[in-house]
Amino acid sequence: MKNTCPLLLALIVIGPMPVSPQTLREAANQRGVKIGAAIAPAHLGETEYAATAAREFNQVEPENAMKFGPIQPGPQTFNWAPADVVVAFAQQHGMAVRGHNLVWHRQNPGWITSGHFTADQLHSILQDHITKVVIHYHGQIYAWDVVNEAFNADGTLRSTIWADSPGIGMSGTAYIEQAFRWAHAADPKALLFYNDYDAEVMNAKSDSIYRMAKDFKARGVPLDGIGLQMHFKLDETRFASMEANIKRIAELGLQVQITELDVRIPVGPSGEASAADLRRQADVYRNAAEACLKFPQCTAIQTWGFTDKYSWIPHEDPGFGAGLEFDTNYRPKPAFYALLDALRTR
Ligand code: G3I
Repeated sequence: MKNTCPLLLALIVIGPMPVSPQTLREAANQRGVKIGAAIAPAHLGETEYAATAAREFNQVEPENAMKFGPIQPGPQTFNWAPADVVVAFAQQHGMAVRGHNLVWHRQNPGWITSGHFTADQLHSILQDHITKVVIHYHGQIYAWDVVNEAFNADGTLRSTIWADSPGIGMSGTAYIEQAFRWAHAADPKALLFYNDYDAEVMNAKSDSIYRMAKDFKARGVPLDGIGLQMHFKLDETRFASMEANIKRIAELGLQVQITELDVRIPVGPSGEASAADLRRQADVYRNAAEACLKFPQCTAIQTWGFTDKYSWIPHEDPGFGAGLEFDTNYRPKPAFYALLDALRTR
């Protein structure tokens, strides 16, 4: 070995250096967590969209295709095809699927919102919907957002067609509990989540969700986790409070998942953002991912889309956009590298 070069010697003695993961998916796999994105079946025919999704993520969730309106547009009509496309894509690429969502106040079909149904009728309609949708995807969806956004910012229950206007005939959080029981009966192995926004940190809304979760756990209601959406702006700095919230949920024996992460920034007329804002955006991504990864109970990080080419933000908040980790040409942004770095096993 006298004349062997030091690098070769190191290779013989300690073996080849492990290759650092280059994709989010590889990094998440090494770490044993899910990295996901909301996707739209209509874009899967676009080569770069599909290739990026399959390369970077080990989980997908349909952004709209499984919501009540899109999937049950008539009382006896189920439009399975678009959501089935997402599930087939995931299966073809070995990805897990999250289902979104079974009970929400938005994107309900006109036949329900204009139907003037009684509480008894709505009770049957919701039971039928949850049962049929969950059974259709039995064994194919590992986790469902069963109830989405049921609380107001002040911690009171939101008034919705399912809660109290007229509701399904159950007061307080009992209608939420009922939805979880129906979903569990339809697929006992699926993990069932309550999902909300602006409840990432300690505040009145997250306090109410925590109280409900504690009560559900104490009484054996089939709740498995809380989804923290994480639709953020650049001013998001409350990561210590976020960790405290994740910790208290985890201590109930529940999972936490980041379900809809994006960080909107000001954009010009053609969607362009400043380099400084893109760097600050990356910091928010890194801090959010690190807050999750500190806890083994935080099992998934998912972004709401993955390319700035298709994002809900400019439609709902004109003047803002560029919220995701890939730009409109599928080039990785600083936010991508921040996520990758946070995911890489240290
Ligand atoms: O599909 C119809 C199309 O047929 C019609 O011609 C067109 C005309 O406006 O609308 C299309 O539907 C739109 C749909 O997105 C699909 O693009 C709806 O109008 C539009 O309201 C809908 O927006 C979605 C929004 O939820 C609805 O509330 C966004 O894409 C979706 O990203 C957003 O997702 C929500 C999560 O589910 C829950 N958390 C918040 C998040 C962001 O708002």
